[in-house]
Amino acid sequence: MSQHVPVIAIDGPSGVGKGTLAQFLTDETGFHLLDSGAIYRALAFGAVKNALALEDVAALVNLATTLPVEFVSCGIFYEGEDITSQVRTEEIAGVASTIAVIPEVRSALMARQKAFAILPGLVADGRDMGTVVFPDADLKLFLTASAEVRAERRVKQLKSKGVDANIEQITQDIKARDDRDHNRKAAPLRPAEDAIVIDTSHLGIEDVCKKARTLVKERVLST
Ligand code: C5P
Repeated sequence: MSQHVPVIAIDGPSGVGKGTLAQFLTDETGFHLLDSGAIYRALAFGAVKNALALEDVAALVNLATTLPVEFVSCGIFYEGEDITSQVRTEEIAGVASTIAVIPEVRSALMARQKAFAILPGLVADGRDMGTVVFPDADLKLFLTASAEVRAERRVKQLKSKGVDANIEQITQDIKARDDRDHNRKAAPLRPAEDAIVIDTSHLGIEDVCKKARTLVKERVLST
């Protein structure tokens, strides 16, 4: 009989602290990490690189099924090229959220995401981890925060890297991306019925991590 692989699903909009929490829980549990947004971003990178039309569903699906990307501890590699920082741009995020509305593209990326669920367990970060990809996850967390709070955090992060950032533009980009993620027909962004929703607008990331650690101990590691 195959052994149960514990899964912790973390969903929510961009800039809400999912990545930091996912990394924290990965370190705490020793589980594997799936950054599903990075898969959508790598696909967006490939689509731009190959000059694919973003409405060309067949070409996007073909690329999604054969996506030549590798995730290793030191970064993301596309046909051997390190694209870790290139996929973090707002442009690639915008393309990723545009092609993520296409149901056939989402289905084509399903097997690749599911393959991350191996022992000793998985922390999966995304938009539809608890609703679609891992509906039987042992623990589902859904993080929220207002678009304004998330934009402020993003500006701070960019400034700390010496990048000049315009708060109005970033707020607008975040809202446009939220709109697409919430309103798409395929796997719209919403908490699973059995998800625990944590509003991080007025919580430090340390408090969010502490809260999540307690839940993981109670609901995942105790079974
Ligand atoms: O999480 P991240 O900001 O890297 O994701 C980039 C885009 O990929 C999101 O705005 C979203 O449209 C899409 N995405 C998705 N489903 C996921 C992860 C990301 O649709 N599970």
